[in-house]
Amino acid sequence: MSEHFLVTGGNRLEGEVLVGGAKNSVLKLMAAALLAEGTTVVTNCPDILDVPLMADVLRGLGCEVQLEDSEVRITTPAEPKYHADFDAVKQFRASVCVLGPLVARCRRAVVALPGGDAIGSRPLDMHQSGLRLLGARSEIEHGCVVAEADDLHGANIRLVFPSVGATENILMAAVLARGETVIDNAAREPEIVDLCNMLNEMGAKVSGGGSSTLTIQGVRKLEPTTHRVIGDRIVAATWGVAASMTRGDVRVRGVNHKHLGLVLDKLRTAGAEVTPEVDGFRVIQRERPKAVNFATLPYPGFPTDLQPMAIGLAAVAEGTSMITENVFESRFRFVEEMIRLGADARTDGHHAVIRGVPVLSSAPVWSSDIRAGAGLVLAGLVADGTTEVHDIFHIDRGYPRFVENLRGLGGVIERVGSE
Ligand code: UD1
Repeated sequence: MSEHFLVTGGNRLEGEVLVGGAKNSVLKLMAAALLAEGTTVVTNCPDILDVPLMADVLRGLGCEVQLEDSEVRITTPAEPKYHADFDAVKQFRASVCVLGPLVARCRRAVVALPGGDAIGSRPLDMHQSGLRLLGARSEIEHGCVVAEADDLHGANIRLVFPSVGATENILMAAVLARGETVIDNAAREPEIVDLCNMLNEMGAKVSGGGSSTLTIQGVRKLEPTTHRVIGDRIVAATWGVAASMTRGDVRVRGVNHKHLGLVLDKLRTAGAEVTPEVDGFRVIQRERPKAVNFATLPYPGFPTDLQPMAIGLAAVAEGTSMITENVFESRFRFVEEMIRLGADARTDGHHAVIRGVPVLSSAPVWSSDIRAGAGLVLAGLVADGTTEVHDIFHIDRGYPRFVENLRGLGGVIERVGSE
């Protein structure tokens, strides 16, 4: 039995919503627990499907993992196993972040490659070439990425693109390598800073987190720690965009508004009043949103993960918006579903041109990934009638208590089963 959402449009979102820990942080922090023998505790974990899936990956590697409320306790043995098999990793891509920690701890890692992804090809060449520069051999063998190292040593590594995953894997291997590693053109995302902070709490020597140069002095051993995950800026911004699209008034809590500088500026350009607050921000939109151009880029640029929401906003804005996708080539596939909802949109390669219409028109639509799914629900909130959003397991992978949160803001949404 699969489930779908029924979303009825026409309501203004109003009220307050609390955001949990960042999905794109918590999974890497859980992987980092492999780096130290003993019990590491990660708090403020979001209640999303990927957290228990990651717990299973770690169990497969010999860890004991307990999940309780928003806390995960990971007890890593003296000698973790080094093979993450396909059954454990197939359901989500982020599992590849165990590669770096396993090479560091076991000097050998075999991690099955997860399947394809709807947002575009996601090669691991930068992860592998970084590990090679640290002294590892790395190949793809029988559907697995294999990395082995007799001796890991510091190196100067310049990434050809500031990949989030490659930065994380190389960083987590370098913390236990001999000598100094410098990663140039490193990703600068807040989730990388969160990981650097946790590694330093464990006894690592990492500096430059949040800049494009990370410097790591390798240490012999790390100790377990207790670390609180930062708030999820993508979930937070989803609610902010929803407020703007529905001409609502929403206060978002549990996130650092500084992690959303450019996104909040774009909402201001769309005509929203955006007020930064100590623990979040507030978005009030009084008139129909105005058209805004967006170009996705690595942080601090506009996040590719918010591109579907930006398209939703553009679809009902006054005027024509141009959206450019620079990170994942296939992310515009979801625009077909927006067109089904009456959006006036054209794509050409990396570009989409969207002429805003006053209101969308409900239809059955299919989510292809987490963010596309959330973008379609937002579109359903400004469509006349009731929109069916299918394949919502994607949304459950990234948005904790999605229905409850949306209803709490006055959105009309129902989860129903279907044969
Ligand atoms: C992470 C996020 C994802 C976000 C993305 C970009 C997690 C779990 N996921 O994904 O939500 O959309 O960052 O902000 O944190 N690339 C290569 N070779 C490599 C690695 C990457 O060519 O070895 C390319 C990718 O195909 C893509 C681009 O680099 O075009 C960015 O990918 P990357 O930053 O690595 O994204 P992820 O870490 O996979």
